[in-house]
This record gives sequence, structure tokens and C-alpha cells, in this order.
Amino acid sequence: MIHARITGTGSFAPKKIITNQDLEKLVDTSDEWITERTGIKERRIAEKGQNTSDLAYEAGKKALKAAELTAQELDLILVATMTPDTILPSMGCVLQDKLGAKNAAAFDIAAACSGFIYGLSIADAFIKAGAYKNILLVGAEVLSRFTDWEDRTTCVLFGDGAGAVVIQRHAGKHGILSTHLHSDGSLGDLLHVPAGGAQHPASHDTIRKRMHFIKMKGNETFKAAVRALEGVVQEALEHNKVKPEEIDLLVPHQANLRIIQAMAQRLNMPMEKVVLTLPKYGNTSAASIPMALDEAVRDGRVKENHLLLFEAFGGGLTWASALVRW
Ligand code: ACO
Repeated sequence: MIHARITGTGSFAPKKIITNQDLEKLVDTSDEWITERTGIKERRIAEKGQNTSDLAYEAGKKALKAAELTAQELDLILVATMTPDTILPSMGCVLQDKLGAKNAAAFDIAAACSGFIYGLSIADAFIKAGAYKNILLVGAEVLSRFTDWEDRTTCVLFGDGAGAVVIQRHAGKHGILSTHLHSDGSLGDLLHVPAGGAQHPASHDTIRKRMHFIKMKGNETFKAAVRALEGVVQEALEHNKVKPEEIDLLVPHQANLRIIQAMAQRLNMPMEKVVLTLPKYGNTSAASIPMALDEAVRDGRVKENHLLLFEAFGGGLTWASALVRW
């Protein structure tokens, strides 16, 4: 049986830390509010001149090293991001050049926080179809450049970072067992960046109105997230005829501790089986799952044969799950 198997992981977080106490000096907020409502204590912020492709490069290099694969052996590069360095060229192409991955096709995935799982699904399909054998999938974000540092309802949530996986053709039982993807474009305005695209290109007016920053209706997004994630996790379990107790590790998108706890509770799963990086990184959108996965792989929590469940929810709206036999 042919599977798409994750054979290496890597991640990178910029050095600069912004704590909740630092944010207290910027906007009318408190460490207590942020901790209680989100679970976040601090987040990493890219330095001036350090861009999404730089973070992606660092994470990608580590994943290639872990998989013992050279960049020249890659035949596809996928980058999930909502904060590319530029609209054109894509981050996939910029990363291909930085890595020297001359033989790889490359493109980006725009599915916000669900982008990494969308990428797993694309990689899985390409490998099963026989189109590609060695794929690098990176989730990378510099959300701090799209964050309104005067808006307390969003600036406390986001952070910068990148996570990467190498996915290879594997003749055996290990690998991606299933992916389930969903979208609901009718709720796009719950979480969006109004300007910077063809609809509202940059102008003095869009800048004055702060339209180039992320806007989120947090509470409505929260409710939609819990509802959608319950459904897509159930879908993964039923599709694979797996009981919640058979899951060894839950690697969720890191948006809000209360959402993650609600999922763990639904699965009757103790929090020790949940990989949590939210307190130190905040919400890094498409980077959050591969960053958490890399941490759990490197500290030995992920073991051969383990059953891993990934789930994510993000702007679009998009939501997704994946079940992986390590
Ligand atoms: N500090 C202090 N008070 C604040 C802050 C802050 N940073 N932010 C908001 N408040 C206030 C609000 O103004 C409001 O005050 P009011 O009652 O006087 O009007 C009060 O706190 C409650 O606000 P809510 O928005 O109802 O707070 P909630 O409990 O919903 O928490 C949060 C907000 C943390 C944003 C939560 O709704 C959330 O996590 N939502 C989901 C986020 C998510 O999953 N996003 C999807 C992925 S992200 C992506 O795709 C990029």
C-alpha cells in the first residue's frame, strides 16, 4: 500500500519575544485577560528585514536534514501562508531559489490557519497519484506585519514562525491515513484583511482606514471554530474507524487554549496527549501545527506507529483534519 509519509520535520521561531506585559504598555489590556481568554503568555516577532521566506527557509533546511534529503532531490515545494513576502512571486518559488531546489515545482496554499492540513492533503494526493515522490511542505507566517498594534482585540493573539515537513512516497502502512477539508466562504468577513488585493489596492484612504491589517470578529469566530472542529474530528475518526482512545497525540492548530481544551474534552483525551505551544508562540496560523509537531518529534513524544490527529480552523472560513500513522 502506498502512503505519503512524513520523514522529517523542522521549525524556526524568531528570537524576539513580546510578552503580555509588553502588550500592556501598547494597548488597554492585561496579562490576566490574555491568559484567561486565550492561554497565550508571549509570542515571537520577526526582526526588521526578516521575512516569511527567511523563516520558511530555516524550517525547511531543518526538515530536509532530518529526512536526510538534499534540496535537489525535492520534486515539489508547497508553502502554506497568508503573509507572503510579496503577492508575486509566490513563497514557494522564493523558497525554491533559497534552498537551491532546482528540480522542484513550487506554489503557495491560501487557506489561512488550515493551510498546513490543506498542504498535507495536496501532498498526499500527488504522491498517491504517482506525480511526485519527495515533497517539502512549509507553513510560514510573519503575522506581525499584518497586525494592527493599536487593536487590542487582535494584536494579543498572533505571532511569527515557520514549521516544515518532508513528505515522501512510502510503500507500507505509515503515513497520512486521511485528510478532510472544508470551507464556508459565506463567513469570510469574520476574519479578513480588507485591503491590499485587487478589490482595494493600497491607497492613502486604505492606509488611513487601517484596512491592511487583520480584522476578526473573535467571539463569532470562536463559536464557528468549536462547531466546525467537532464535526471534522468526528469525520476523521469515523472514516478511519478509530476510537478516540486510540489516538496517541493530538496536534491542534494553536489559536485559543479554550478551543483546544474543548476538543480534548470531546475526545476524552488528557491534556498530556495534546501538543501545546500556544503559551510561548501565540497563534502562528499555518505555521502552528508543523511547529508543534516538530517540537513533539524532537522531544521524543512522537514515536513510531503512533496515531496522530491534526485539526485546524481559520479564515476563509476553512477547517480541516488529518490522521497520520507515524
Ligand atoms: N484585553 C482586554 N479586553 C479585551 C481584549 C484585550 N486584548 N480584547 C477584547 N477585549 C474585551 C472586548 O472589548 C469585550 O469587552 P466588552 O464586553 O466590554 O465589549 C470583552 O473583552 C470580551 O470580548 P470577546 O471578543 O467576547 O472575548 P472572547 O472571550 O470571545 O475572546 C478571543 C476573544 C480570544 C479573540 C476569542 O474569541 C478567540 O480566540 N476567537 C477565535 C480565534 C480563532 O480561532 N481564529 C481562527 C484562527 S486565526 C486565522 O485564521 C488567522
